[in-house]
Parts: sequence; structure tokens; C-alpha cells
Amino acid sequence: MVADTIHVHSHLAGYPTYHIFGHDIVLDVPISALILSTIGAVFLLRYTLSVFRLILELAVLPGKNVKRYQSRNGKTWALVTGCTSGIGLEFARQLAKKRFNVILIGRRKNALDEVSQELESKYGVETKSFIVDVSTPGSSRDEALSQIELFAKSNDLGVLINNVGASHAMPVAFAETERSEMNSIIETNINWTLLLTRAVIPSMIARSSKRGSPKSLIMSIGSLSGRIPSPLLATYSGTKAALSTWTKALAEEVKEKGVEVELVQAAFVVSNMSKIRRSSALVPTPANFVRSVLSSFGLPRGAQGRPYERTPFWTHAFLDYVVGFAGYLSEVTGIKVINSMHKDIRKRALRKAEREKGGKKE
Ligand SMILES: NC(=O)c1ccc[n+]([C@@H]2O[C@H](COP(=O)([O-])OP(=O)(O)OC[C@H]3O[C@@H](n4cnc5c(N)ncnc54)[C@H](OP(=O)(O)O)[C@@H]3O)[C@@H](O)[C@H]2O)c1
Repeated sequence: MVADTIHVHSHLAGYPTYHIFGHDIVLDVPISALILSTIGAVFLLRYTLSVFRLILELAVLPGKNVKRYQSRNGKTWALVTGCTSGIGLEFARQLAKKRFNVILIGRRKNALDEVSQELESKYGVETKSFIVDVSTPGSSRDEALSQIELFAKSNDLGVLINNVGASHAMPVAFAETERSEMNSIIETNINWTLLLTRAVIPSMIARSSKRGSPKSLIMSIGSLSGRIPSPLLATYSGTKAALSTWTKALAEEVKEKGVEVELVQAAFVVSNMSKIRRSSALVPTPANFVRSVLSSFGLPRGAQGRPYERTPFWTHAFLDYVVGFAGYLSEVTGIKVINSMHKDIRKRALRKAEREKGGKKE
């Protein structure tokens, strides 16, 4: 039986006819053009939907509530490393405001005491401080880890924020990086983070693996320097990339046991580490950054397509999204742009150091 014939631009002759589902389809366009335009349409649809999702997640969809990590008895603890300034201090404040007791970890007793007093008097929560220089392996650090492990066993630890981080004093070529600086960055960003997590995760699994029990959270603070390889910060960049891979492996291991593990990505934030003092759309204050983190659990935002990762702050999310969108091209371009930006920062930092040296001599 001959069915109806469908022509597309039938003024062109010589193209094949296909018999599909009882229709004769005369294809007046090259088959390659049809395939390419179909692929194009699929990609366009995919990216339109993902931009739509990004905007929805940033502007409309609410994140899961942080209370999912709290026990009903109201005595859940959150542990925050590097909590005496910047992002860590804000985590400590905002978690205390949400009624978590807070374990404070830092290396300066006076600063820890100040934070402790502020949290206890302002939010009426309990605090517990551990003084430790996390960059220095040895008996003091081991002792602190053992004490924290013990504390986690006998208290309801629901949240671990692996915030503490170290970077280079200024951008520097890998070949010229001081060994002490490299050690400090690797010990702080990697070894300490893994050792601390190892110390408390059995208690979190025990707490969260029973049916109906609250979830536990292990959040590590990443950096877009780990996402886009950053020349002249190679050691820092590499440690943050390592954290990302470790997070994903661990997250999969423990998700069935009620422990959620995630990496939160950040671009620049006002802080001592970034040496940026003034906030802008691209550089949030620690308070605004942490607010975006605590209000968007479960939403990847800029980290779409990357499991166990999210980029909560809106401008960072757009930046991260664009990097993912352009793939290879953005990585190659990103490395070059960052290289020249860091060369420039290094020049200015060296000039500043020279000026300060001159000023001290006078
Ligand atoms: N700021 C940014 O632009 C940015 C961007 C991406 C990612 N991040 C990440 O965000 C995290 C927090 O950075 P931040 O900008 O908030 O830094 P920050 O303001 O310099 O604060 C770092 C905190 O860690 C503590 N700390 C540093 N070294 C320590 C050590 N060896 N032992 C114990 N405590 C130590 C500091 O204590 P002291 O007060 O004693 O120094 C301080 O409380 C880091 O993981 C960083 O990589 C930051």
C-alpha cells in the first residue's frame, strides 16, 4: 500500500525517499544536515533546561533544612575548623544561631575564647574549644585528634565543617615554592582534613545509620582554584582538587549510612586569606557566603552534573556553570587567564613587600 508522500523543499531534486511507518518521506536536505540539526536541537534543549534549572535553584527552589542534621533532644554539636576568622567564624555564628552547640578548632587560645564567649552569650549554646595547629604533624596534633574522637563518641556530633585551609603567601612558581610552605598547605588542606574526618566519622555513622535517626553532614570547603588548575598556586590548587575527589569517593561509601559528604565550591570571598577587604557582587562577605551555603542544601547550583558538589553563592555559581558549559575551551582559557592574573598579583605583592621593607628601614 502506498501512503502519502511528504516533501520538504521539493524543488531540489535527487535526494532519497524513505519509507517510514507507511509514509514516503522525500528528504530534500542532506542527511548530514538533518543529523547535525537534530544534535544541535538536543544540545540547545539540554542547555536551555540546565540554565533554567540553575536560575530556579538560585532564585526559587528552597534548599533542605539544616535541621535534618539535628537530633530531637536539641543537643547536637557542629564542629567547625578554622573558626577564628573569615568563613569559619561565620559558620560557627550561623550554626549557633540555628541552635547547634559548636566545637571550635583553632590555633589561638585568645581568639577561640572570644568566639566561644560570643556564641554562648549571643545564642545561648554550648561550645567546646580545641587548640591545635593543624599544619604541624606530631604528638600535639595526634593528641587533639584523640580528644576530638573521644568527644564525638560521647556527644551527638551531627555536622563537621572542614573549613580550615592554607594557601601560598603570594602566587609563586612551583619550582620556587618553599618546602615549609608546601608542607603547611598539604598538612592543613589534606592530611588534617582526612585525619579529622577519620576520627569522627565512625561516631557519625553510629548516630545516623539507624532508621529514623537524623542525618550527619561532612562538608569541606573547596575552591574554584581546584576546579580550574591555577598556575602559581599549584600546590593549593592541587590540594583543593584532591579534596574534591576524596569527597566523592567517601560520599558514595557512607551515603547509605545516613552521612552526607559534600564539597562546597567558592571563588573569592572577603577574608584574610583572599586579602580582599571590600565585598562586591563577585566577592561576598563571609556572612553572605555562609548564608548561601546553609540555605541551599541539596541544590548543586553552579556545580550541576558533578555529584556531591555544590556552588551556592550566585555569582560563583554562574562562573562555575560557565566553566562547565564551555568544557575544554574554558579550562584551557581559564588556566591562561589565571596564570597572567597571578603573575600580575605576584608583581604587585613583591612591590608592596619591597615598600614595606623600605619603610621599616627608615
Ligand atoms: N577567601 C577566599 O577567597 C576563599 C576562596 C575559596 C576557598 N576558600 C577556602 O575557605 C576556607 C576558609 O578560608 P578563609 O578565607 O575564611 O580564611 P581565613 O580568613 O584566613 O581563616 C582561616 C581560618 O583558619 C585558621 N587556621 C589557619 N591555619 C591554621 C592552622 N595551621 N591551625 C589552626 N587553624 C588555622 C585561621 O586561624 P588564625 O585566625 O589563627 O589565622 C582562621 O580561623 C579555606 O579552606 C579556603 O581555602 C577561601
